[in-house]
Amino acid sequence: MTSNFKAALETQLLDSFNDAFSALNKSAPSLHFYWRDISSAVIYPLEAGGKRVRPTLVGLMAEACGAPPEHSAVLRAACALEMIHTYSLVHDDLPCMDNDDFRRGQPTTHRVFGEANALLVGDALLTQAFSVLAELPEHGVSPEIALRCVAILSRCSGAQGMIAGQWLDLAFEKSPQKGDWTSLASIHTLKTGALLSAAFSIGTLIGCALSEDQNVRTMSRDDLSSITHLSERIGLKAGLAFQIIDDVLDVTQSSSNLGKTAGKDTAQNKLTAVSLFGLEGASSRAQELTQACIDDLGQLQSKIFTLSNEKIEEKKFLAVLHFVKELLLRTS
Ligand code: IPE
Ligand code: IPE
Ligand code: MG
Ligand code: MG
Ligand code: MG
Repeated sequence: MTSNFKAALETQLLDSFNDAFSALNKSAPSLHFYWRDISSAVIYPLEAGGKRVRPTLVGLMAEACGAPPEHSAVLRAACALEMIHTYSLVHDDLPCMDNDDFRRGQPTTHRVFGEANALLVGDALLTQAFSVLAELPEHGVSPEIALRCVAILSRCSGAQGMIAGQWLDLAFEKSPQKGDWTSLASIHTLKTGALLSAAFSIGTLIGCALSEDQNVRTMSRDDLSSITHLSERIGLKAGLAFQIIDDVLDVTQSSSNLGKTAGKDTAQNKLTAVSLFGLEGASSRAQELTQACIDDLGQLQSKIFTLSNEKIEEKKFLAVLHFVKELLLRTS
């Protein structure tokens, strides 16, 4: 992914909140100090950075389908994914959940702004994500595709996706010995895989809708549905592998390297891939899943190539494969 995409993403992430706060300022200038506090609290966990895995996947998938990743619609969709993810981290760190003090290399949002405000920061990020997606029709995406993106993101991040995973994660926290591979795979696929699946499928949907290849842009609804479905499946596997590696890194890396507290899973008696299979067993599961994910990506590539006018370059797809492989080898 180009450095242009990364820079534009950072600007876009903050811009959508700046607009909100200048509107507040105009509405009641005398409350300026409060608007400034809200603004700095909401921006705090976003500006801290992180790997930006989900928005990068949106950009890479859009590009693999023949769209320019710096297109304003792709950037907006990428932002929506990062906002949901960042909100999930702010809430995940709260004392009533994982009770973490350190995130993205700095004190957690509730340590700086207090618990109630951190709850509100998470709510603001969550809500803003859907507002950003709702603007897609102003950026060249049809209302039908925008609505599909809203439906995917709400399903994947809501009660049948990420929230269910977070719930199960907490439910097994006190008694990991009750867990087996089925329960662990459900927890990890839901809490992390669901959002990655949204990144893959939303990137694909928008990428096809904005593709420079006319045949891809005008494919039938059935073809688009089957391609989106396949992308979701790829994301679920990639997300399961991603979370297994997160469990491994919790044991093998230092807090300073991770930018978050290491050794937290053991301290909190979590059911993790490491507690179930040990370090080597967990790593080999993640490798198998990554391979399965790469095989499915090959299938997706051939489907899109069959539909395309051969205008889509193979190297754009190879960039996705490379990124997915690198996730397995990451150290933070
Ligand atoms: C952390 O996600 C939480 C998990 C789902 C494993 P990331 O490892 O992507 O965190 P950031 O975005 O880089 O901070
Ligand atoms: C977090 O999983 C998953 C979500 C935030 C949805 P973890 O609790 O393992 O993430 P870290 O290790 O705190 O980043
Ligand atoms: Mg957690
Ligand atoms: Mg946590
Ligand atoms: Mg973790």
